[in-house]
Amino acid sequence: MHTNNTISSSIADIHLAVEILQQGGLVAFPTETVYGLGADASNARALQKLYAIKGRPTNHPVIVHLADIEQLSEWGQDIPPIAFELGNAFWPGPLTLILRRRETVLDEVTGGQGTVGVRIPDHPVALALLKQFGRGVAAPSANRFGRLSPTRADHVRADLGHDIDYILDGGPCTIGVESTIIDLTQDFPTILRPGMISLADLNKFLGIETETATSKTTIRVPGALPSHYAPNTPLEIVPLAQLPEKIEQYQQENISVALLTCAPFKTNLPPSHRVLGSNTPQHYAQTLYANLRQLDTLGCQRILVEAVPNEGLWQAVFNRLQRAANTFASIQGEATHV
Ligand code: TXA
Ligand code: MG
Repeated sequence: MHTNNTISSSIADIHLAVEILQQGGLVAFPTETVYGLGADASNARALQKLYAIKGRPTNHPVIVHLADIEQLSEWGQDIPPIAFELGNAFWPGPLTLILRRRETVLDEVTGGQGTVGVRIPDHPVALALLKQFGRGVAAPSANRFGRLSPTRADHVRADLGHDIDYILDGGPCTIGVESTIIDLTQDFPTILRPGMISLADLNKFLGIETETATSKTTIRVPGALPSHYAPNTPLEIVPLAQLPEKIEQYQQENISVALLTCAPFKTNLPPSHRVLGSNTPQHYAQTLYANLRQLDTLGCQRILVEAVPNEGLWQAVFNRLQRAANTFASIQGEATHV
């Protein structure tokens, strides 16, 4: 595998990455949300390789990354005007639109569904790659299926380094959690995954743009929480007020604990076992996956995470923490996979 050692990828690096994509290879690249593992979205064999390396079930669809909104009609059909309005308002940016697929779109992209997910990422390296490649790049997050998403090139190297052809290094991701996904193929726009473009941002936008249908454009977040984005260490979410007794309980049971809180927290846990998130959802999200990775390397028996609000921009963080905790719950038989 070739890797470049500079933080910002050079023009030569992007050139090489484009050649690898053209030859059916796999290239990890930075986006503003998380690193993606890219393959030519029109090359079935490249996509099959991508699924195999990720260890991802083949009925899971992948997002097609584009450089320009003009390319939408190559992937979607019967595209509603709202798709172009949302794209013009939020792209490049952390928003994925689900559209009806064109018949030419490969089943390997759509997971055999009648829909396709598309987005234009807001990262100079990703945009340069997509522009030069000129076609759609299918890219799930560049991690093994079900594990934590990578937000730095060295995360990708650690997870997939030996199995992929190239890693473009664009520094740490600025958003840190995956894009907001909005399904535009139903009667009403529906959020399938919350992200840092919030429900309020979208509601405001849709409300303004569709005056007569304001009451119909209510967005619902499905309650289903598949286990996903999980560290290896069982993770539990605990309200701040209950943290002291929870830590004490585990210490009495000789269960080793690592801790992630929003603000400094007084405890007798060793400093190496404590990680500070942030009081703001933007900063918390930016470092969430790197923080969980760090706590995961300690080899503790539990990661305890201070509960965060399920509102506003915190919803994106709340959702990822719930999913990470769900893996633990499902091991204990308390939750079902979706
Ligand atoms: O921010 C992001 O979205 C990152 C970066 C790399 O762009 N990508 C990402 O991809 O998170 P991935 O594959 O890890 O998650 C994509 C999600 C999956 O949950 C998948 O089910 C959903 O998007 N998805 C993709 N196409 C879909 C479709 N046609 N219908 C419904 N869901 C879809
Ligand atoms: Mg993923």
